[in-house]
Amino acid sequence: MSEASAFRTLDDAEIANKRVLVRVDLNVPVDNGRVTDDTRIQAVLPTIREISDKGGKVILLAHFGRPKGEDPALSLAPIAGEVASRLGRPVAFAPATTGPVAEAAVARLQPGEVLLLENTRFDKREEKNDPDFVAALARLGDLYVNDAFATAHRAHASTEGLAHKLPAFAGRCMQEEIEALARALEKPQRPVLAVVGGAKVSSKLDLLGNLVAKVDILVIGGGMANTFLAAQGKNVGKSLCEHELAGTALEILDKARAASCEIVLPVDALAATEFKANAAHRVASVDDIRPDEMMLDAGPASVENVVARLEDAKTIVWNGPFGAFELPPFDTATVAVARAAAERTDAGGLLSVAGGGDTVAALNHAGVAGRFTYVSTAGGAFLEWLEGKALPGVEALRR
Ligand code: 3PG
Ligand code: MG
Repeated sequence: MSEASAFRTLDDAEIANKRVLVRVDLNVPVDNGRVTDDTRIQAVLPTIREISDKGGKVILLAHFGRPKGEDPALSLAPIAGEVASRLGRPVAFAPATTGPVAEAAVARLQPGEVLLLENTRFDKREEKNDPDFVAALARLGDLYVNDAFATAHRAHASTEGLAHKLPAFAGRCMQEEIEALARALEKPQRPVLAVVGGAKVSSKLDLLGNLVAKVDILVIGGGMANTFLAAQGKNVGKSLCEHELAGTALEILDKARAASCEIVLPVDALAATEFKANAAHRVASVDDIRPDEMMLDAGPASVENVVARLEDAKTIVWNGPFGAFELPPFDTATVAVARAAAERTDAGGLLSVAGGGDTVAALNHAGVAGRFTYVSTAGGAFLEWLEGKALPGVEALRR
Protein backbone atom coordinates (compact mmCIF):
# COMPACT_ATOMS: atom_id res chain seq x y z
CA MET A 1 0.00 0.00 0.00
CA SER A 2 0.93 3.66 -0.03
CA GLU A 3 2.04 6.07 2.68
CA ALA A 4 -0.71 4.76 4.93
CA SER A 5 1.16 1.54 5.63
CA ALA A 6 3.55 3.71 7.61
CA PHE A 7 0.67 4.32 10.01
CA ARG A 8 -1.38 2.12 12.28
CA THR A 9 -5.03 2.33 11.29
CA LEU A 10 -8.30 0.99 12.70
CA ASP A 11 -7.45 -2.29 10.95
CA ASP A 12 -4.72 -2.80 13.54
CA ALA A 13 -6.78 -1.97 16.64
CA GLU A 14 -8.49 -4.39 19.08
CA ILE A 15 -11.54 -2.30 19.79
CA ALA A 16 -14.25 -4.42 21.48
CA ASN A 17 -15.09 -3.20 25.00
CA LYS A 18 -12.24 -0.68 24.89
CA ARG A 19 -12.57 3.00 25.80
CA VAL A 20 -11.45 4.72 22.61
CA LEU A 21 -10.48 8.40 22.73
CA VAL A 22 -11.19 9.73 19.25
CA ARG A 23 -9.82 13.18 18.31
CA VAL A 24 -12.07 14.71 15.66
CA ASP A 25 -12.23 18.16 14.07
CA LEU A 26 -15.69 19.59 14.81
CA ASN A 27 -14.53 23.15 14.26
CA VAL A 28 -17.41 23.82 11.84
CA PRO A 29 -18.80 27.18 10.76
CA VAL A 30 -21.87 28.12 12.80
CA ASP A 31 -24.17 31.03 12.08
CA ASN A 32 -26.98 31.90 14.47
CA GLY A 33 -26.73 28.50 16.09
CA ARG A 34 -26.92 26.69 12.76
CA VAL A 35 -24.08 24.64 11.25
CA THR A 36 -23.63 26.20 7.81
CA ASP A 37 -21.21 23.57 6.45
CA ASP A 38 -21.22 20.09 7.97
CA THR A 39 -18.41 18.62 5.85
CA ARG A 40 -16.18 18.02 8.86
CA ILE A 41 -18.98 16.29 10.81
CA GLN A 42 -19.82 14.03 7.87
CA ALA A 43 -16.14 13.22 7.42
CA VAL A 44 -15.75 11.61 10.86
CA LEU A 45 -18.98 9.59 10.90
CA PRO A 46 -17.39 6.47 9.33
CA THR A 47 -14.77 6.26 12.09
CA ILE A 48 -17.34 6.78 14.87
CA ARG A 49 -19.65 4.16 13.32
CA GLU A 50 -16.88 1.64 12.86
CA ILE A 51 -15.61 1.88 16.43
CA SER A 52 -19.15 1.78 17.78
CA ASP A 53 -20.07 -1.22 15.59
CA LYS A 54 -16.95 -3.05 16.79
CA GLY A 55 -18.15 -2.63 20.38
CA GLY A 56 -15.83 0.18 21.40
CA LYS A 57 -16.87 2.99 23.73
CA VAL A 58 -16.43 6.13 21.64
CA ILE A 59 -15.17 9.19 23.52
CA LEU A 60 -14.93 12.18 21.21
CA LEU A 61 -12.36 14.92 21.82
CA ALA A 62 -12.59 18.15 19.84
CA HIS A 63 -11.94 21.88 19.97
CA PHE A 64 -14.21 24.67 18.86
CA GLY A 65 -12.98 28.17 18.00
CA ARG A 66 -10.13 29.78 19.87
CA PRO A 67 -11.41 30.29 23.45
CA LYS A 68 -9.25 31.92 26.08
CA GLY A 69 -10.28 29.66 28.95
CA GLU A 70 -13.89 28.55 29.47
CA ASP A 71 -16.36 30.34 27.22
CA PRO A 72 -20.02 29.21 27.14
CA ALA A 73 -20.39 30.63 23.62
CA LEU A 74 -17.83 28.08 22.44
CA SER A 75 -19.24 25.05 24.25
CA LEU A 76 -19.45 21.87 22.18
CA ALA A 77 -22.81 20.99 23.80
CA PRO A 78 -24.92 21.95 20.75
CA ILE A 79 -22.55 20.06 18.45
CA ALA A 80 -23.34 16.76 20.23
CA GLY A 81 -26.86 17.00 18.81
CA GLU A 82 -25.51 17.85 15.36
CA VAL A 83 -23.32 14.74 15.40
CA ALA A 84 -26.15 12.56 16.80
CA SER A 85 -28.67 13.55 14.12
CA ARG A 86 -26.22 12.73 11.33
CA LEU A 87 -24.96 9.57 12.99
CA GLY A 88 -28.48 8.34 13.64
CA ARG A 89 -27.44 7.33 17.18
CA PRO A 90 -27.46 9.16 20.52
CA VAL A 91 -24.39 11.17 21.46
CA ALA A 92 -24.04 11.99 25.17
CA PHE A 93 -22.30 15.19 26.23
CA ALA A 94 -20.14 15.84 29.31
CA PRO A 95 -19.63 19.46 30.39
CA ALA A 96 -15.98 18.76 31.20
CA THR A 97 -12.91 17.60 29.28
CA THR A 98 -11.04 15.87 32.11
CA GLY A 99 -11.54 15.29 35.84
CA PRO A 100 -14.34 13.67 37.86
CA VAL A 101 -17.26 14.83 35.67
CA ALA A 102 -15.63 13.52 32.50
CA GLU A 103 -14.51 10.32 34.25
CA ALA A 104 -18.03 9.65 35.51
CA ALA A 105 -19.50 10.15 32.04
CA VAL A 106 -16.96 7.74 30.59
CA ALA A 107 -17.69 5.20 33.32
CA ARG A 108 -21.39 5.22 32.35
CA LEU A 109 -20.63 4.32 28.70
CA GLN A 110 -21.68 0.91 27.40
CA PRO A 111 -19.91 -0.74 24.44
CA GLY A 112 -21.02 0.94 21.21
CA GLU A 113 -22.12 4.17 22.91
CA VAL A 114 -20.81 7.61 21.98
CA LEU A 115 -19.81 10.51 24.27
CA LEU A 116 -18.58 13.99 23.37
CA LEU A 117 -16.43 15.81 25.92
CA GLU A 118 -16.32 19.60 26.30
CA ASN A 119 -14.06 21.82 24.14
CA THR A 120 -10.47 20.72 24.75
CA ARG A 121 -9.29 24.35 24.50
CA PHE A 122 -11.27 25.35 27.60
CA ASP A 123 -8.20 24.02 29.40
CA LYS A 124 -5.14 26.19 28.77
CA ARG A 125 -2.93 23.12 29.03
CA GLU A 126 -4.31 21.73 25.76
CA GLU A 127 -2.45 24.10 23.44
CA LYS A 128 0.72 23.81 25.54
CA ASN A 129 0.70 20.04 25.07
CA ASP A 130 1.10 19.92 28.85
CA PRO A 131 2.07 16.42 30.12
CA ASP A 132 -0.33 16.65 33.10
CA PHE A 133 -3.23 17.39 30.77
CA VAL A 134 -2.14 14.59 28.43
CA ALA A 135 -2.12 12.26 31.45
CA ALA A 136 -5.58 13.45 32.58
CA LEU A 137 -6.95 12.76 29.08
CA ALA A 138 -5.18 9.40 28.89
CA ARG A 139 -6.93 8.26 32.08
CA LEU A 140 -10.22 8.38 30.14
CA GLY A 141 -9.22 5.87 27.46
CA ASP A 142 -7.46 2.64 26.57
CA LEU A 143 -6.75 3.55 22.92
CA TYR A 144 -6.30 6.77 20.97
CA VAL A 145 -7.57 7.35 17.44
CA ASN A 146 -6.77 10.58 15.63
CA ASP A 147 -9.27 11.43 12.90
CA ALA A 148 -8.60 15.18 12.88
CA PHE A 149 -6.32 15.83 9.90
CA ALA A 150 -7.59 19.42 9.83
CA THR A 151 -5.99 20.00 13.25
CA ALA A 152 -2.85 17.93 12.58
CA HIS A 153 -0.69 21.06 12.17
CA ARG A 154 -1.16 21.72 15.90
CA ALA A 155 1.06 19.94 18.45
CA HIS A 156 -1.59 20.02 21.17
CA ALA A 157 -2.29 17.53 23.95
CA SER A 158 -5.29 15.99 22.20
CA THR A 159 -3.71 16.01 18.72
CA GLU A 160 -0.11 15.03 19.47
CA GLY A 161 0.68 14.35 23.12
CA LEU A 162 -1.89 11.57 23.52
CA ALA A 163 -0.43 9.62 20.62
CA HIS A 164 2.71 9.04 22.71
CA LYS A 165 0.77 8.03 25.81
CA LEU A 166 -1.75 5.47 24.48
CA PRO A 167 -1.67 2.95 21.62
CA ALA A 168 -2.40 5.31 18.70
CA PHE A 169 -4.17 4.77 15.37
CA ALA A 170 -5.23 6.86 12.37
CA GLY A 171 -9.00 7.06 11.91
CA ARG A 172 -10.58 6.57 8.49
CA CYS A 173 -10.78 10.29 7.65
CA MET A 174 -7.16 10.80 8.68
CA GLN A 175 -6.17 7.74 6.66
CA GLU A 176 -8.02 8.96 3.57
CA GLU A 177 -6.43 12.41 3.80
CA ILE A 178 -2.92 10.97 4.15
CA GLU A 179 -3.46 8.59 1.23
CA ALA A 180 -4.98 11.21 -1.06
CA LEU A 181 -2.30 13.76 -0.35
CA ALA A 182 0.46 11.21 -0.85
CA ARG A 183 -0.97 10.25 -4.22
CA ALA A 184 -1.15 13.91 -5.23
CA LEU A 185 2.31 15.07 -4.28
CA GLU A 186 4.61 12.40 -2.84
CA LYS A 187 4.32 9.73 -5.51
CA PRO A 188 2.11 11.30 -8.16
CA GLN A 189 1.41 10.35 -11.73
CA ARG A 190 2.97 13.04 -13.90
CA PRO A 191 2.57 15.62 -15.24
CA VAL A 192 1.42 17.21 -11.98
CA LEU A 193 -0.25 20.58 -12.29
CA ALA A 194 -0.76 22.78 -9.25
CA VAL A 195 -3.16 25.70 -9.13
CA VAL A 196 -2.34 28.26 -6.47
CA GLY A 197 -4.59 31.26 -6.17
CA GLY A 198 -5.71 33.64 -3.49
CA ALA A 199 -4.92 37.18 -2.56
CA LYS A 200 -1.39 37.33 -1.30
CA VAL A 201 2.03 35.99 -2.24
CA SER A 202 3.20 36.85 1.28
CA SER A 203 0.94 34.23 2.84
CA LYS A 204 2.01 31.52 0.39
CA LEU A 205 5.75 32.01 -0.07
CA ASP A 206 6.77 28.69 1.50
CA LEU A 207 4.04 26.93 -0.41
CA LEU A 208 5.13 28.30 -3.80
CA GLY A 209 8.77 27.53 -3.00
CA ASN A 210 7.93 23.93 -2.14
CA LEU A 211 5.61 23.38 -5.11
CA VAL A 212 8.01 24.59 -7.81
CA ALA A 213 10.39 21.84 -6.70
CA LYS A 214 7.69 19.16 -6.85
CA VAL A 215 5.22 19.85 -9.65
CA ASP A 216 5.65 20.10 -13.41
CA ILE A 217 3.32 23.02 -14.02
CA LEU A 218 2.41 25.71 -11.51
CA VAL A 219 -0.58 27.87 -12.41
CA ILE A 220 -0.62 31.08 -10.40
CA GLY A 221 -3.93 32.89 -10.14
CA GLY A 222 -5.82 35.38 -8.02
CA GLY A 223 -4.39 38.55 -6.54
CA MET A 224 -1.00 36.92 -6.06
CA ALA A 225 -0.57 36.61 -9.84
CA ASN A 226 -0.55 40.41 -10.02
CA THR A 227 2.56 40.54 -7.85
CA PHE A 228 4.33 38.32 -10.40
CA LEU A 229 3.06 40.38 -13.36
CA ALA A 230 4.22 43.60 -11.70
CA ALA A 231 7.60 42.03 -10.98
CA GLN A 232 7.89 41.36 -14.73
CA GLY A 233 7.39 45.07 -15.34
CA LYS A 234 3.70 45.12 -16.22
CA ASN A 235 1.36 47.86 -15.08
CA VAL A 236 -1.27 46.31 -12.87
CA GLY A 237 -3.21 49.54 -12.26
CA LYS A 238 -5.11 49.46 -8.99
CA SER A 239 -5.07 45.66 -8.80
CA LEU A 240 -4.29 43.97 -5.50
CA CYS A 241 -0.50 43.67 -5.61
CA GLU A 242 2.40 43.36 -3.20
CA HIS A 243 4.90 45.54 -5.07
CA GLU A 244 7.46 45.16 -2.29
CA LEU A 245 7.65 41.43 -3.05
CA ALA A 246 8.82 41.87 -6.64
CA GLY A 247 12.27 40.49 -5.80
CA THR A 248 10.78 37.49 -4.05
CA ALA A 249 8.48 36.80 -7.00
CA LEU A 250 11.45 36.85 -9.40
CA GLU A 251 13.34 34.46 -7.12
CA ILE A 252 10.42 32.02 -7.25
CA LEU A 253 10.42 32.26 -11.06
CA ASP A 254 14.19 31.54 -11.08
CA LYS A 255 13.76 28.59 -8.76
CA ALA A 256 11.01 27.24 -11.03
CA ARG A 257 13.23 27.56 -14.09
CA ALA A 258 16.04 25.71 -12.34
CA ALA A 259 13.60 22.92 -11.38
CA SER A 260 12.06 22.76 -14.89
CA CYS A 261 8.69 23.72 -13.47
CA GLU A 262 6.62 25.67 -15.96
CA ILE A 263 4.94 28.71 -14.42
CA VAL A 264 1.63 29.74 -15.97
CA LEU A 265 0.54 33.31 -15.29
CA PRO A 266 -2.58 35.05 -16.61
CA VAL A 267 -2.27 36.61 -20.05
CA ASP A 268 -5.56 38.49 -19.82
CA ALA A 269 -8.01 39.61 -17.15
CA LEU A 270 -11.49 40.87 -16.44
CA ALA A 271 -10.65 44.47 -15.62
CA ALA A 272 -13.00 46.76 -13.69
CA THR A 273 -12.77 50.08 -11.87
CA GLU A 274 -15.09 49.03 -9.03
CA PHE A 275 -14.78 46.09 -6.65
CA LYS A 276 -18.37 44.88 -6.54
CA ALA A 277 -20.66 42.24 -8.01
CA ASN A 278 -21.56 42.86 -11.64
CA ALA A 279 -19.21 45.84 -11.91
CA ALA A 280 -18.76 47.11 -15.46
CA HIS A 281 -15.70 45.34 -16.86
CA ARG A 282 -13.77 44.52 -20.01
CA VAL A 283 -11.48 41.73 -21.16
CA ALA A 284 -7.99 43.21 -21.26
CA SER A 285 -4.52 41.88 -21.98
CA VAL A 286 -2.23 41.98 -18.94
CA ASP A 287 -0.10 44.37 -21.06
CA ASP A 288 -2.99 46.80 -21.34
CA ILE A 289 -4.33 47.46 -17.82
CA ARG A 290 -5.25 51.12 -17.27
CA PRO A 291 -4.12 53.02 -14.18
CA ASP A 292 -7.62 53.08 -12.64
CA GLU A 293 -8.43 49.42 -13.37
CA MET A 294 -8.27 46.29 -11.21
CA MET A 295 -7.86 42.75 -12.50
CA LEU A 296 -10.69 40.94 -10.72
CA ASP A 297 -10.54 37.62 -12.56
CA ALA A 298 -8.42 35.80 -15.12
CA GLY A 299 -9.66 36.33 -18.68
CA PRO A 300 -10.78 33.80 -21.32
CA ALA A 301 -7.35 33.32 -22.96
CA SER A 302 -5.86 32.58 -19.53
CA VAL A 303 -8.57 30.02 -18.83
CA GLU A 304 -7.92 28.40 -22.20
CA ASN A 305 -4.21 28.14 -21.35
CA VAL A 306 -4.93 26.31 -18.12
CA VAL A 307 -7.60 24.05 -19.62
CA ALA A 308 -5.21 23.10 -22.44
CA ARG A 309 -2.55 22.03 -19.91
CA LEU A 310 -5.15 20.08 -17.99
CA GLU A 311 -5.63 17.91 -21.09
CA ASP A 312 -2.22 16.29 -20.52
CA ALA A 313 -2.03 16.50 -16.74
CA LYS A 314 -2.44 13.30 -14.72
CA THR A 315 -2.67 14.99 -11.33
CA ILE A 316 -3.95 18.36 -10.16
CA VAL A 317 -3.51 19.93 -6.71
CA TRP A 318 -5.63 23.02 -6.15
CA ASN A 319 -5.47 25.72 -3.52
CA GLY A 320 -7.03 29.15 -3.89
CA PRO A 321 -9.43 30.76 -6.38
CA PHE A 322 -8.46 32.64 -9.57
CA GLY A 323 -10.43 35.80 -9.01
CA ALA A 324 -12.87 37.53 -6.69
CA PHE A 325 -15.10 34.45 -7.02
CA GLU A 326 -17.61 35.70 -4.44
CA LEU A 327 -18.51 38.56 -6.82
CA PRO A 328 -20.03 37.40 -10.12
CA PRO A 329 -18.98 37.49 -12.91
CA PHE A 330 -15.49 37.44 -11.40
CA ASP A 331 -16.06 33.77 -10.52
CA THR A 332 -15.89 32.85 -14.23
CA ALA A 333 -12.29 31.59 -14.43
CA THR A 334 -12.48 29.62 -11.17
CA VAL A 335 -15.73 27.95 -12.23
CA ALA A 336 -14.49 27.19 -15.76
CA VAL A 337 -11.22 25.58 -14.62
CA ALA A 338 -12.94 23.72 -11.79
CA ARG A 339 -15.47 22.25 -14.23
CA ALA A 340 -12.73 21.26 -16.67
CA ALA A 341 -10.88 19.49 -13.86
CA ALA A 342 -14.09 17.73 -12.77
CA GLU A 343 -14.79 16.57 -16.33
CA ARG A 344 -11.29 15.14 -16.73
CA THR A 345 -11.63 13.46 -13.36
CA ASP A 346 -14.99 11.94 -14.38
CA ALA A 347 -13.40 10.68 -17.60
CA GLY A 348 -10.83 8.82 -15.52
CA GLY A 349 -7.75 10.66 -16.72
CA LEU A 350 -7.06 12.91 -13.78
CA LEU A 351 -6.50 12.60 -10.05
CA SER A 352 -7.80 15.85 -8.53
CA VAL A 353 -7.12 16.98 -4.99
CA ALA A 354 -8.16 20.30 -3.49
CA GLY A 355 -8.05 21.88 -0.07
CA GLY A 356 -8.04 25.08 1.96
CA GLY A 357 -11.06 27.02 3.20
CA ASP A 358 -11.64 29.34 0.24
CA THR A 359 -10.91 26.60 -2.24
CA VAL A 360 -13.61 24.30 -0.97
CA ALA A 361 -16.08 27.20 -0.97
CA ALA A 362 -15.08 27.98 -4.57
CA LEU A 363 -15.48 24.35 -5.69
CA ASN A 364 -18.84 24.12 -3.96
CA HIS A 365 -19.84 27.34 -5.70
CA ALA A 366 -18.83 25.75 -9.03
CA GLY A 367 -20.88 22.70 -8.04
CA VAL A 368 -17.99 20.29 -8.59
CA ALA A 369 -16.54 19.53 -5.13
CA GLY A 370 -18.18 16.09 -5.19
CA ARG A 371 -16.58 15.28 -8.55
CA PHE A 372 -12.99 15.87 -7.42
CA THR A 373 -11.07 12.74 -6.44
CA TYR A 374 -10.53 14.16 -2.98
CA VAL A 375 -11.38 17.40 -1.23
CA SER A 376 -9.51 17.86 2.04
CA THR A 377 -11.39 18.79 5.21
CA ALA A 378 -8.42 20.95 6.19
CA GLY A 379 -7.62 24.64 5.89
CA GLY A 380 -4.37 25.51 7.65
CA ALA A 381 -3.20 21.90 7.82
CA PHE A 382 -3.61 21.50 4.04
CA LEU A 383 -1.54 24.64 3.48
CA GLU A 384 1.22 23.44 5.78
CA TRP A 385 1.25 20.13 3.98
CA LEU A 386 1.57 21.97 0.64
CA GLU A 387 4.49 23.84 2.20
CA GLY A 388 6.20 20.49 2.69
CA LYS A 389 6.06 20.75 6.47
CA ALA A 390 5.69 17.74 8.73
CA LEU A 391 2.35 17.84 10.56
CA PRO A 392 2.87 16.94 14.24
CA GLY A 393 -0.49 15.16 14.53
CA VAL A 394 0.38 12.96 11.55
CA GLU A 395 4.00 12.36 12.52
CA ALA A 396 2.96 11.13 15.98
CA LEU A 397 0.93 8.34 14.34
CA ARG A 398 3.84 6.82 12.44
CA ARG A 399 4.66 3.23 13.31
C1 3PG B 1 -9.04 24.80 11.51
O1 3PG B 1 -10.23 25.11 11.40
O2 3PG B 1 -8.14 25.28 10.81
C2 3PG B 1 -8.69 23.74 12.52
O3 3PG B 1 -9.82 23.29 13.20
C3 3PG B 1 -7.64 24.24 13.48
O4 3PG B 1 -8.12 25.36 14.18
P1 3PG B 1 -7.08 26.48 14.62
O5 3PG B 1 -6.62 27.17 13.37
O6 3PG B 1 -7.83 27.39 15.56
O7 3PG B 1 -5.93 25.79 15.31
MG1 MG C 1 -7.03 27.40 11.13
